[in-house]
Amino acid sequence: MIRKGNLYYPTKEFQKAAQLYDKAAENPIKFWEDLANKGILWRKKWQKTFVHKPPYFKWFLGGKLNITETIFESNLVALKNKVALIWEPEPLTESPEYPRGKEKSRKITYGELFSAVCRFANALKKLGVKKGDRVGIYLPMIPEVVIAMLACARIGAIHCVVFSAFSPQALKARLEDTGAKILITADGYFRRGQVIDLKTNADEGVKKTKVKKIIIVKRANNEIPWNKKTDIWYESLVKNQTKSCPAQIMDSEDPFFILYTSGSTGKPKGVLHTCGGYAVQTQATGKWIFDFQPNDVFWCTADVGWVTGHTYGVYSPLLNGITSLMFEGAPDWPTPSRWCQIIEKYRVTILYTAPTAIRMFAKYGEDFVKKHDLSSLRLLGSVGEPIDETAWLWYFQNVGKSKCPIVDTWWQTETGGILITSLPGLGPFRPSYTGLPFPGIKTDILDDRGRSCPVNKKGNLVILPPFSPGLFRGIYKNPKKYRETYWSQYGSKIYFTSDGALRDKQDLIRIIGRVDDVIKVAGHRLSTGELENAVNKHSSVSECAVVGIPDKIKGEVPVIFIVLKKTQPEEKIKPEIIGQIKKEIGPIALPKEIYLVEDLPKTRSGKIMRRILKRLFTGEELGDLSTLSNPEIVEKIKKMTTP
Ligand code: WTA
Repeated sequence: MIRKGNLYYPTKEFQKAAQLYDKAAENPIKFWEDLANKGILWRKKWQKTFVHKPPYFKWFLGGKLNITETIFESNLVALKNKVALIWEPEPLTESPEYPRGKEKSRKITYGELFSAVCRFANALKKLGVKKGDRVGIYLPMIPEVVIAMLACARIGAIHCVVFSAFSPQALKARLEDTGAKILITADGYFRRGQVIDLKTNADEGVKKTKVKKIIIVKRANNEIPWNKKTDIWYESLVKNQTKSCPAQIMDSEDPFFILYTSGSTGKPKGVLHTCGGYAVQTQATGKWIFDFQPNDVFWCTADVGWVTGHTYGVYSPLLNGITSLMFEGAPDWPTPSRWCQIIEKYRVTILYTAPTAIRMFAKYGEDFVKKHDLSSLRLLGSVGEPIDETAWLWYFQNVGKSKCPIVDTWWQTETGGILITSLPGLGPFRPSYTGLPFPGIKTDILDDRGRSCPVNKKGNLVILPPFSPGLFRGIYKNPKKYRETYWSQYGSKIYFTSDGALRDKQDLIRIIGRVDDVIKVAGHRLSTGELENAVNKHSSVSECAVVGIPDKIKGEVPVIFIVLKKTQPEEKIKPEIIGQIKKEIGPIALPKEIYLVEDLPKTRSGKIMRRILKRLFTGEELGDLSTLSNPEIVEKIKKMTTP
């Protein structure tokens, strides 16, 4: 027991933690200001740290910077020969330990990365890309995606990365919204032993958009369609460019990147992040939460097409001068040992992944893990969906060998970086509880009337002013949506996360799940509304309802209920619906089941009661059906859904 004035702490760690959190809570603005001073290279210091005009706010006003200068210039002498990026290709034959291999796995130093970024930045400039222009990036997990993002950042262009497994239609919707004139893509990539032809998808996606030039990275050497007017090989473009490119100096509040996330209709929302605040939060959260040390090899397994890939795959490790690992392939291909082999081979020290991957590996048992030397690991992370106790324990015991702490990290595309977690060395760690708000972050859990919920009572998670420097600043070209979705539930000064949560006696927060129509399918964020929109585009569909139901591995999966305009054989219509979803969104959105039903449960005013459909799968009480205009349909559907 340690005594400090009137306060007693059980251990030194508790004392340290309490002081840290208290100090940040006293003056969060000052707290972030200190982090901004320490972690980021500024060309010009800001004049005002935080300004709030609800529902808008700004951080580090008047500050000037370029994020790539913190990554490269601030530390170049020390880091020049240090590996920034390790890249592991999917085909085993391309890994050096296989003697007949083509030795494609790559280690890129900070010095080499800097040259590559400058070369590509110069090339983009030559194509006419200027500060503020949007650039589409539709690339798989290859080093050039990092080079492309940083090259945009170098010249102040706004990168808009589109997940490479999204369909041409999904790419098109994003390109149209951004008005990008340039798209960077690849010929193809490897996935589960197959070559995926990305260029054909890209060609389809750019049709009728403003894209004038397509830059293609040669990765898989597959044959691709070629259009002389628009297409340029990446290699030939960068070949004659010089290795230096001055950084475009950006205002702290200038747009940095746009990343799309599912909207509740077919139209995705462009989540807009800005230069200064994002840089500060990304650098600091990585340093504190993963406790980055100079010799760390950090592996964030998320695809760069999602926010986790942006913040903790690319920017945070590089801003902190450590080594980041990138893997092209699927986790369990060709065997469940693939990830373990990579950890062993590169002596990975921190693994940051999603519960869905852990559950998938657990399904294979423990024996395959035991065959590998995972002793380099010192810290584990989890993100993207609630981690249940079973998965937490499996991860802790089998991967971390009961010696690595697990940081469960809560955040969103909108928050830009982690806002709730336990800190390594401080804890407290409680399985299935995410932890405390990061120092300087104020959260609350509110009931529907806006009152703070007592301990153990479920409510809505909100974030209070001054929020965080990296919280997004808007939905691209859609201020109405920004206000309505995030700043109207509890007024314009409280950020509504759309997550249900509760807290325990120690104030640790447990995330229950989304209260809107977002579902997390194997960690991928989709909305049921977006799926419904895709299905409704099929000419035989009269109406449909999509709900997310629990799944042992994927967390949640969609099921679809369809009312057809006129009866059709299942074997004909179901594959067509599947095709429709693949075309509109991509294979990640495929449903677990499609039910052809006569009608959907509706209220008397015609509202579809998705909640009732969901309960058919969760085992919850169906509730009062008397308010429905067609209660008899529930019984019929129930018969179809019970095996
Ligand atoms: C969910 C991913 C429980 C949550 C970074 C959030 C989590 C949504 C956790 C955002 C966690 C994320 N525990 N749930 N540790 N982390 N979520 O935008 O519902 O893809 O609102 O960002 O994922 O998903 P997004």
